[in-house]
This record gives sequence, structure tokens and C-alpha cells, in this order.
Amino acid sequence: MILDGKTCSERRLEILREEIDESGLNPTLATVIVGANPASQMYVRMKQRTCEKVHIESVGIELPANTKTDQVLVTVHQLNNDSDIDGVLVQLPLPKTIDTGIVIRSVRSDKDVDGFHPYNLGLLFSGKPVFVPCTPKGIMTLFGEYEIDVAGKNAVVLGRSLEVGRPMAALLTNADATVTICHSKTSNLSEETLRADILVSAIGKPQFITANMVKPGAVIVDVGINQLNGKLVGDVDFEAVKEIASAITPVPGGVGPMTIATLMENTFLAAKLRSCSTVW
Ligand SMILES: NC(=O)c1ccc[n+]([C@@H]2O[C@H](COP(=O)([O-])OP(=O)(O)OC[C@H]3O[C@@H](n4cnc5c(N)ncnc54)[C@H](OP(=O)(O)O)[C@@H]3O)[C@@H](O)[C@H]2O)c1
Repeated sequence: MILDGKTCSERRLEILREEIDESGLNPTLATVIVGANPASQMYVRMKQRTCEKVHIESVGIELPANTKTDQVLVTVHQLNNDSDIDGVLVQLPLPKTIDTGIVIRSVRSDKDVDGFHPYNLGLLFSGKPVFVPCTPKGIMTLFGEYEIDVAGKNAVVLGRSLEVGRPMAALLTNADATVTICHSKTSNLSEETLRADILVSAIGKPQFITANMVKPGAVIVDVGINQLNGKLVGDVDFEAVKEIASAITPVPGGVGPMTIATLMENTFLAAKLRSCSTVW
């Protein structure tokens, strides 16, 4: 079974647009980009285009590559205090001269639609999430749409980044999977991957996961986005692995579109939470 993130995300975006129209709210997402990294610029453009589709306003702020940490913080504080803005997203990676951790912590936790603020990660790790990082949340949504039950399964996550690997492991744990996190220092990686009923790869190495590393019947989620001979490929050798997996996400058209759809859902959630007086 191909886990078709493109179709699934389009369906969810349609529903979201209707919900936004019916809500009477005017959700607004601010994106901050520092420097001219072409991949980051492309991601921000895709996010802004998707905002348009679902009737979310988007405000784009572009800062030059030589911007200092303090100046980024001033911009984030302005957006934090702007009552018209519901979500604040700082596109990563930031130039090396900027302290990424301080910038992430400066985003107001109730506008943190990326879910990277330690407060939101803390809620996620305590099993009571509010804003969850978009890529892992999008993967859980995809499992839901295809009725893939993770409870009691052996789930192996490759990669331990704050953006993908760690929150993915937390979500799977919250959903009652038995979770192993692997990284570049894991000894005998194949031994771990071969035990996986659910394998999520987020390492950024083209076609690294080969068929002999996969348990027959496993569910394979490929987060990787890599260039190989001018083509976009994932971390998984899709053609070989699809023959033995029970379900697999393609690249492109798998996790990527689910990530953007989830960002839209998180932005609407921020707008809804800010519109009611309840303290969350
Ligand atoms: N589809 C989407 O929406 C989406 C969203 C985000 C990211 N991505 C893609 O997903 C990939 C990972 O992103 P990221 O931000 O999580 O990357 P990252 O911060 O570079 O983390 C990579 C992780 O992979 C581990 N790793 C590297 N080589 C390994 C190996 N040979 N064996 C086992 N583990 C290894 C690293 O281990 P150490 O910790 O030991 O260094 C690290 O934990 C990238 O290709 C990125 O472009 C896609």
C-alpha cells in the first residue's frame, strides 16, 4: 500500500478551508526567513501558497543573511505582540551566526505553530501536546487516515533531531508503540531496523535503507529529502523496499505535503485558542 500524503493532505486542506470559513476567524501566519537559502525560500513560498488555498493570511518577513541574533529577536517580539498574528514561524536552518536556540525560545508558546518551543516540546513529552512539530504530527495523521494502528508495535525511528526524530518518538510513545531511536552512533543499525514493525527514517541519506534492512510486512515512512543525480529521493530505496513492506510513503508525495497541511492545521488551532479566553 502506498501511503499517499499528497491526496490525503489535499483532502484535509479542503476540510480545513471549510472549517476556517465557517469559524469567522481570520487566521494569520507570519513567516520569518533570514538570508537567501534557496531551499528555505522554496519552503516558505510553498507554505504561503498553501495558506492562500485555505484562506489563512500570510505575512512574510525577509531579513538579510548578515542579520544579528538580537535583530531577529526584535522581529519575533514584534510578531509576538501583534494581535493580528496567530502563528509565528522562523524558517530553519538559520545562518550559523544566529543562535537558533534563543530564537526558537523567543517565539510565544501560544503562537509556536512549529511546536519547537521547549514549553510545547515539554507538553508533548509529558503526553499532553498542544502544538506538535508538523512533520511527525503529519505522519501520525497519515497513520490515522490509513487506519494503521501503532499500539503495541515495535517502532524504530532513525534520527534524533528536535524537528523530526525526537518528537516522532514521543508521539509514537504516546500512541502506545514500543519505540527505539537510532542515530549515527547506533551500532549495528540493521539489527534495530529489522525488528521494526514501523520504521520512520529521518536521516537525510539518499536510499540508505535497503530491502535487506527491512522486516517483511513493515510500515515504512520516509522523511528524507535528498538530491541524487538531479532527482529528489528519500532515505529509502523505494523500488526495492516497496516489494516487502506492507505500506510505504513515496518521496515526493508522502510526508512533505502532510507537513505543510499540518502547519495549516496548527495555525488554525492557534487562531482558535487565541480567540477564546480560556487559558490553555
Ligand atoms: N518531508 C518533510 O517534510 C521533512 C521535514 C523535515 C526534514 N526533512 C528531511 O528529513 C531528513 C532529516 O531531517 P532532520 O532535520 O531531522 O536532520 P538532522 O537534524 O540532520 O538529523 C539527522 C539525524 O540522522 C542521524 N543520522 C545521520 N546519519 C546516520 C546514519 N548513517 N545512521 C543512523 N542515523 C544517522 C543523525 O544522527 P546524530 O544525531 O548522531 O548526528 C541525526 O540524528 C532530511 O533529509 C530533511 O531534509 C523532511
